[in-house]
Amino acid sequence: MRTQVAIIGAGPSGLLLGQLLTRSGIDNVVLERQTPEYVLGRIRAGVLEQGAVAMLDEAGVGARLHAEGLVHGGIELTWAGERHRVDLNALTGGKNVVVYGQTEVTRDLMDARQASGATSVYEAADVAVDGFDSNRPTVRYRKGGTAHALECDFVAGCDGFHGVCRQSVPTGAIRSYERVYPFGWLGLLSDTPPVSKELIYVSHERGFALCSMRSLKRSRYYLQCSLEDKVEDWSDARFWDELRRRLDPRAVADLVTGPSIEKSIAPLRSFVAEPLRFGRLFLAGDAGHIVPPTGAKGLNLAASDVRYLFDGLVEHYRRGRSVGLDAYSSRALRRIWKAERFSWWMTNLLHRFPENGPFGEKMQLAELDYLFSSKAALTALAENYVGLPY
Ligand code: APR
Ligand code: PHB
Repeated sequence: MRTQVAIIGAGPSGLLLGQLLTRSGIDNVVLERQTPEYVLGRIRAGVLEQGAVAMLDEAGVGARLHAEGLVHGGIELTWAGERHRVDLNALTGGKNVVVYGQTEVTRDLMDARQASGATSVYEAADVAVDGFDSNRPTVRYRKGGTAHALECDFVAGCDGFHGVCRQSVPTGAIRSYERVYPFGWLGLLSDTPPVSKELIYVSHERGFALCSMRSLKRSRYYLQCSLEDKVEDWSDARFWDELRRRLDPRAVADLVTGPSIEKSIAPLRSFVAEPLRFGRLFLAGDAGHIVPPTGAKGLNLAASDVRYLFDGLVEHYRRGRSVGLDAYSSRALRRIWKAERFSWWMTNLLHRFPENGPFGEKMQLAELDYLFSSKAALTALAENYVGLPY
């Protein structure tokens, strides 16, 4: 088999890139290790910046997002037991975010890909990328026990943090930067109305909490938890009790609880690999970087990487120019590092870090107090939260 762009991974990065390429007449094949059902079963974040929404529109998959997504012009931050609103819309001259689950984004992209007739190979095992330092890369994989080879012009490594693409790069050619946080997030999904119209980020002495949503009938809550905790340690009742302890009195009164439909623990990590291009192999999305979820940037960074990579590929195929592809890594990384900084800052501001002691706690409180007394400081939060320009 031969294609122009071989895309490894059918998460949001790979599927969005594939859809944009297909619509531009650039042939591509998606190879995914898992089944479609498995990919759709992963519960991930759900806040989209306007730039990401625009890209989904450009990919022709914006209809359900506009019909069902919830436009949010603000978020709330609770500290010292009180809730404070950040008016994102007013602080950014009219920008908003859209709350729409990553699962739904993925489903829309999968449906569009299937309708377009573009080739996707799910349950592709033992994917290996070869020859990306030459003009003729080859991707080898096994499907149903048979070995296959896919020849291509370029390989897009959209295979997530644990993928094979980054691992295929010689160690001397890549440098990584990492911070692993000493806690995790315990998430719970329930078919209950959200506690509030907007997301509530909570800084509490018992630990961070977040009240989010997927729709007006489905809520997503998170609690900062210990890395030693197991999901089995957390009955639904224990989760709701602990959440109530971290919320302000009005939120406690408004909280509607119900049985969980999903519960999981995720570690928090900041990670960046440099560069993101190795000959004809390009890394995009979680394959090249991870942010802790506090700033809601993971999916949005995947979209901006795809923006730069897609533009570079179009320029290559339409005009025979390589300027965009040559600049891909540095352009993408400039935006990635700023989102890394913001996500790290939000994480440090709102979580409990016992190892930082009482002085660390006072610094967090002073920063929160400053934030809500300074329009400049709040504007900095708002412009990062809604997304920096591409
Ligand atoms: N071969 C083929 N596919 C693979 C391989 C492999 N060796 N390894 C991983 N994959 C697949 C995974 O099964 C997954 O479906 O690559 C896909 C990567 O998808 P994501 O992890 O969702 O990464 P990405 O598309 O970059 O999306 C980034 O997802 O993790 C969240 O917070 C993150 O919202 C962000 C978004
Ligand atoms: C979510 O809804 O899952 C979510 C929202 C905002 C975040 C992180 C996760 O910052």
